Amino acid sequence: MDLRRGEPILVQDMAEPRGTSPESWTTDLVFERPGALRRAIKAGILNPLVNYFPAPILRLALRLLRSELAASNWTDPGGWRSMVISYDGERKRFADRLLCTLGTIPMALRNRRVLGARILARLIDASDQPAPHVLCLGAGPGHIITDALLQCRRREARATLVDLNADAFTYGRRLAAQKGTGDRVRFVQGDVRDVAGMLEQPPDVVKMLGICEYLSDEQVASIAATVARRMRRGAAMVFNSLSEAHGTDRFFRRVFRLQMIHRTPGHLQDLMRAAGFTDFSAHAEPLGVYHVIVGRKG
Ligand SMILES: C[S@@+](CC[C@H](N)C(=O)[O-])C[C@H]1O[C@@H](n2cnc3c(N)ncnc32)[C@H](O)[C@@H]1O
Repeated sequence: MDLRRGEPILVQDMAEPRGTSPESWTTDLVFERPGALRRAIKAGILNPLVNYFPAPILRLALRLLRSELAASNWTDPGGWRSMVISYDGERKRFADRLLCTLGTIPMALRNRRVLGARILARLIDASDQPAPHVLCLGAGPGHIITDALLQCRRREARATLVDLNADAFTYGRRLAAQKGTGDRVRFVQGDVRDVAGMLEQPPDVVKMLGICEYLSDEQVASIAATVARRMRRGAAMVFNSLSEAHGTDRFFRRVFRLQMIHRTPGHLQDLMRAAGFTDFSAHAEPLGVYHVIVGRKG
């Protein structure tokens, strides 16, 4: 894949004094929003159509149209390649252009990336550690942390990216080299459920964006409790909820074979609270699909 594509929706970063409240960190961000007409057409026509049209016919159509988004989900449901295609500004296939332009989830994912990167950049800047270390669990190639490292003012900040899939790192290394962050990121192939073995350095920020929806409550709770034991008091955990507001879960389950676990911000915060986090702030992207939530180690 061509790395020049998949550029973030660039938002000019503004110098921000330390110590401002998390609520003020995101007020100037520019998000993607569908217009009222598109929302009405989606809710009244497109969503019912894709949710209830026979799945084998939809799958055949996507195969014939050579959709890379569909193919990547069939091979690796919710994997990093489908994220790259959703983030990507120039998709090769007509079907993917349609899915990623009209689809609520791809648009909400791009919004989550913008929101997550800004929040991480602010947390890095606000850290009282000399070289803030971000542990990214289920990082994929690292688009969000790369954006954050480029936005933050602390050039000494470092990140460890953990993912099951080694292919994500081949792409991620090229992305980091191209963006000039190659010497600030480290790639660790592994299962986030084995995070205990990845904590030789206590993380100043833990990032769990795009991973909780693929883990059970017990797995989220266990990972959070394990990292909490190594984190300093006040260190941040960043994670996201997923609501059914996208209206296409039936389509994703039947056609993409994607099983995502939907949880409210409150549900996830309860899991994180039990693991030792507190003082939560939840930041919604405008489609209402994702909240990016920050908790602090108590
Ligand atoms: C939906 S992608 C999110 C990528 C990135 N965090 C983002 O938001 O752009 C989920 C990633 O989590 C990885 N993943 C899923 N389960 C995992 C596990 N148990 N351990 C490590 N990585 C995992 C997948 O390989 C994939 O790269």
